[in-house]
Amino acid sequence: MSRLIVVSNRTPGKGPAAGGLAVALRKTLAERDGFWFGWSGRLVDRPTNQAEFEEIEGIRVGKVDLTRDDHHAYYAGFSNSILWPAFHLRLDLATIEGHWYEGYRRVNQLFAQALLPHIEEGDVIWVHDYHLIPFATELRHLGVRNRIGFYLHIPFPTLDALYAIPHNTELMRDLSRYDLIGLQANRDVSAFAEFADHQAPSTLSGSPLKSVDFSRTEVAAFPIGSDPEAFAKLAVSPAATKMVRRMQRALGDQALILGVDRLDYSKGLPQRVEAYEKLLANNANLRRQVHLLQVAPPSRDTIKEYQETSDTLDAMVGRVMGHFAEPDWQPMTYVKRAYGQPSLAGLYRLARVGLVTPLRDGMNLVAHEYIGSQDPRDPGVLVLSRFAGAAEIFEDALLVNPFDTDETAEALRLALSMPLDERRRRWKRLMESAQAHSVDRWAESYLARLAPNGHNGKPATVRDVLYLDSVA
Ligand code: F6P
Repeated sequence: MSRLIVVSNRTPGKGPAAGGLAVALRKTLAERDGFWFGWSGRLVDRPTNQAEFEEIEGIRVGKVDLTRDDHHAYYAGFSNSILWPAFHLRLDLATIEGHWYEGYRRVNQLFAQALLPHIEEGDVIWVHDYHLIPFATELRHLGVRNRIGFYLHIPFPTLDALYAIPHNTELMRDLSRYDLIGLQANRDVSAFAEFADHQAPSTLSGSPLKSVDFSRTEVAAFPIGSDPEAFAKLAVSPAATKMVRRMQRALGDQALILGVDRLDYSKGLPQRVEAYEKLLANNANLRRQVHLLQVAPPSRDTIKEYQETSDTLDAMVGRVMGHFAEPDWQPMTYVKRAYGQPSLAGLYRLARVGLVTPLRDGMNLVAHEYIGSQDPRDPGVLVLSRFAGAAEIFEDALLVNPFDTDETAEALRLALSMPLDERRRRWKRLMESAQAHSVDRWAESYLARLAPNGHNGKPATVRDVLYLDSVA
C-alpha cells in the first residue's frame, strides 16, 4: 500500500484533539505508513521552509513554523475572514481585504517547499480544507507528479458567494490541479457542478476568461463520519461515568438538552437559545423539568465577528437566566470550555435531546457522536438542522430549519415527549446510518478512489459524478 501524507493546517498535538478533523484523521494515519504535515502551532520572527518531525502518540508529524504576519494573513485573514464566511453564506460577516491573498498563497508555497524533500515516488498526498486550496498548484510547480487529493470539510458555496471571494477563478483553477476533490454532501457536489457549468464569462476588461478545465479532476461526495462503536464504549467508560454522576447530581429528574459546538457564528447558537427561550415561554409545565447545557469552547477569538458572537450569546444567556431562573432552579448552563471525548460521550448519553442546529455546516460530527453514545434501551432524540451535511444521511432525526426558532422550539417539545418505542425506532436507523458512514469507511472509500488506479484509468468528470449517491 502506498504511503499516505496527510496535509492540514492544524496538526495533532498531545492530549485530546480539538476539532473533528483531527479526531478523524488521527485514526486513519495510525493504521497506515506515512505522516501528517502542517503548521506547528508556533509563531516565530523569521520565516522558515524547513519542517521538523516528531512522533506524537504513534504518528509521525512534520511541522512548519509561521511568522506572525504570515499566519495572520493566511489564517485569521484570508481563510477565516473571507473563505469561511463566504463558504458558510455569511458575506455580511466577511471582511474582504484582498491583500491577505498574498499571505495565503505565500504560506501554501512555503508548506509545499517544506514538504517537497519528504515526498517519495508513489506517495499519495491528501490535503485537507479551505486553508490549503492552492497547495496542489504549489506542489505541481515544484515538479511533484504524485496523486494529490483535496477534501473540503466545510460546505461548498453558492455561485454568488463564490464570486464575492477575491481571486475566485484562481482558487477554482487551483482546485482543478487536484486528482480528486471530496466534498461532504451531494448538495456541495451540485454547487460545485454549477460553477463548472456557469463559469463567469468575462473579466473586468471584457476579454474572455479561459474557463477552468476540470476534465482531469474527479469530484464526489464522501460524507465524513465518526467511530460510533468507539463512542458507544466511551459513553460507559469510567471517565464518562464520572461526568454523568456529576451531572446527574445537578440535574435530579430534569431532562437534559445538550448542545456542543465551537463558538462560531455558523453554529446558530443565538437562534438555539432563542428557541429554548420560546420552549420555556410556551410550555410553563416544562419549567423545572428541563435543563439546557450548552458547551461552546471559544474559537478564532482574535477575529471581531467571533468576539461579537460571543458577546451576543453572553447577553442572550443572561436574558434567559434573568427571565426564567429562580433561587432554586436554573434553566440552563453555558460552559465556554472544551471537554475531552470521554466526558462528552457521557454527556451525550445522558442527554434526552441532542440539539445540533448549525445555520450551515459541512457535516457536523457532534450529530454522529451523539448517536453513537446513546443507550440502545433508552435512546435520546437528535434535533438536527436541515442545513448540516448530516441531514442528508440522518433522515430519522427531527429535522428543523434553525432560522425558524418556533419550529425548533416545537421540535424540542416533541423530542421531550417522544414515546420510548419511537425513540428506539428512530435511533436504530440513525445508528445504522452512522455505522454505514463511519470515519473508517470515509477514509477507505476516499483513499481507494485517490489510489493510483482508483479511478480505473479514466477520471470521471464533474458531470459524470453529479447526482450519484454518496460513495461512503
Ligand atoms: O470544520 C472546519 C475546521 O476548520 C476543521 O478543519 C477544524 O478541525 C475546525 O474547523 C477547528 O478550526 P480551527 O482550526 O480554526 O480552530
